[in-house]
Amino acid sequence: MGRIDTLLATMTLDEKIGQLNMVAASRVVTGPGELRDLHEGIRTGRIGNLLNLWGADETRAVQRLAMEESRLGIPLLMGLDVIHGHHTIFPVSLAEACQFAPDLWEKTARAAAEEAAEDGVALTFAPMLDVARDPRWGRIIESPGEDPWIACQMAAAKTRGFQGLDLAARDSLAATDKHLCAYSAVTAGREYASADVSERALHEIYLPPFASAVAAGVAAIMPAFIDVAGAPMTANAKLLQGWLRGVVGFDGVLISDYNSVAELLNHGVAADLVEAAALALNAGVDIDMTSGAYIQCLPEALQRGLVTMTAIGASVRRVLKLKERLGLFDDPYRRGSVPLQASRAAERRELAREAGRRAIVLLSNRTEVLPLSPEIRHIAVIGPLAAASGEMLGSWASAGRPEDAVSILDGLKAALPQCRIDHAAGVEITGEKTDGISAAVDLCAEAAIVVLCLGESAAMSGEAASRVDLGLPGRQRALAQTILGLGKPVVVTLSSGRPLTMPWLFERADAVLATWFLGHEAGHAVADVLTGKFNPTGRLPLSWPRHVGQVPIFYNELPSGRPYAPGVHYSSTYLDLPPTPQFPFGHGLSYSRFALSDLRCEPTRVRAGETVEVSLAVHNESPVDGDVTLFLFVRDPVASVARPLLEVKGMQKAALAARERKDVTWRLPVEDLSFVGQSLERVLELGRFEIHVGQSADAAGLLSSAIELAK
Ligand code: BGC
Repeated sequence: MGRIDTLLATMTLDEKIGQLNMVAASRVVTGPGELRDLHEGIRTGRIGNLLNLWGADETRAVQRLAMEESRLGIPLLMGLDVIHGHHTIFPVSLAEACQFAPDLWEKTARAAAEEAAEDGVALTFAPMLDVARDPRWGRIIESPGEDPWIACQMAAAKTRGFQGLDLAARDSLAATDKHLCAYSAVTAGREYASADVSERALHEIYLPPFASAVAAGVAAIMPAFIDVAGAPMTANAKLLQGWLRGVVGFDGVLISDYNSVAELLNHGVAADLVEAAALALNAGVDIDMTSGAYIQCLPEALQRGLVTMTAIGASVRRVLKLKERLGLFDDPYRRGSVPLQASRAAERRELAREAGRRAIVLLSNRTEVLPLSPEIRHIAVIGPLAAASGEMLGSWASAGRPEDAVSILDGLKAALPQCRIDHAAGVEITGEKTDGISAAVDLCAEAAIVVLCLGESAAMSGEAASRVDLGLPGRQRALAQTILGLGKPVVVTLSSGRPLTMPWLFERADAVLATWFLGHEAGHAVADVLTGKFNPTGRLPLSWPRHVGQVPIFYNELPSGRPYAPGVHYSSTYLDLPPTPQFPFGHGLSYSRFALSDLRCEPTRVRAGETVEVSLAVHNESPVDGDVTLFLFVRDPVASVARPLLEVKGMQKAALAARERKDVTWRLPVEDLSFVGQSLERVLELGRFEIHVGQSADAAGLLSSAIELAK
């Protein structure tokens, strides 16, 4: 008998359920629920998993209890939200998505895994793969943006990065892809609300990233808190057992979200905690995170005949198997047994700076005020986000210390030592006070240029941070309008966890940059872009709305029977705004200028199983070296179901020296033209397909060609 069979044969019912129980050990509490008597629970085998504990000594101490003082000596699994860094904090996920760089996505996850594993952590609750189309929802900051194909690439890259080549290695973390699924589609963007999405949207938009993560070998998956069309995900046997385990073949561990098993009562699908525990277990949820429902109620659920020993055993086996894969049985202390590698801190800060500057999106450069002239000798840095170093860490900072973050102000000072840099906040991020505005105005009087740092606080996005107003909070608009009225060049940086709607600002500011929350190196990264030391290459992974009334807004929408036509009353639009975004998916400027030409598809007539080579020429027409970002879109103009106007099927970045011309090529497998048919099966339909390539989803900038799929 193998180790796991032997254990299963020896374990009492309580010890078995203990392996399905995860409690907060908390340095941080991330949701409701009381701390249990941790040590006693570990000794008795009633607690098999922890979250929110890190530190070599802290994790070793509790692991020792499990190994030496519990009857069977089964190691604990310790998980933590290592989302965008652990000690070194990288840009938030939405900002990372702007990089469109799978190699970098993997590298930052790897670095985070190494740091967290050094701290005794073995599992992270990341990456989050919720394709997000509604910026009212605060967790859009944790998302890969609006495109499912991009989310699939991120799923694979992040899973590889966290898990490394060998899950048992001392520097690997088990990844937990979350939140399955459609959490981002909550009604009206309101946190924890219901999501009523079609089966087609599930299979085309929200589920594919999870299949991609499974293909990359992900160890764990977390169902979402919410219900999808009345079926709470924590009890959704159809999607968890039927689709995820059955169709996709996921054989890893399903971990509930925080307290969500007990919350099945609030959803109104369980009469008591016993029923809730049974529903979740039968849906395939192996680990109950913090609700205590399993440990308290599964014995009674067994007695009532609501669950079977077989189902409990299967879940326990999956948890033990994960612990085995992580190498915890062989050496429960392997993570946390090497001293923190301070020597690598500088290298990781460098990676954070690189990740930060690649995430910045230059939204506008109306008067070409950027990059800043090297002649500038006096800058006024105004606004409540200028010196707000702590805010730069974003919504999940793990073990990252706020005091180690570089503010935009400090980044600029370090980059421009010869320049006089004055600073005034003017107003606070939120709040009604405006009495600081006049001092800020005075400070601008002699400056050659103003860098105006606006945005949200870190706490205004992330979990439980939905907003109905996507404008600037507090009195920042008053500050901005006053500064914009001074007649000086104004460069605006927007620190936020979502796109902010303010057409008035984009009309008047000389340049605007989306700087999100870039982590520890935020200030240096922003300064690199402002000074032109780094030529911006970040692109929007979502459509940036003009107004909150336009959301949800996304490029890959279905065609309307009455498509939008400016000036046509009976066309798909609004009376008071066009339906188009402020900036389309993929938008982002560079200090270089690229021209695309000569789009070719070879062959133009293809059959199933073949590959099309799509190529084009890119010309850097400017005297500045830079990176171009290209998207390969397809459209199936006539199919058995309406197909999106555009769908990303590829992306590429290419570095071009000044004036350089280059060919860029994709190999597009014909199978990528398949879609979810009327009966929700995948179909590949014959006929003509449009192939488009562009630097964004803006139809005006696309090169177009077509291929024919024949029998
Ligand atoms: C969040 C999860 C997170 C968990 C553990 C929950 O509130 O929804 O994303 O992983 O807490 O902290």
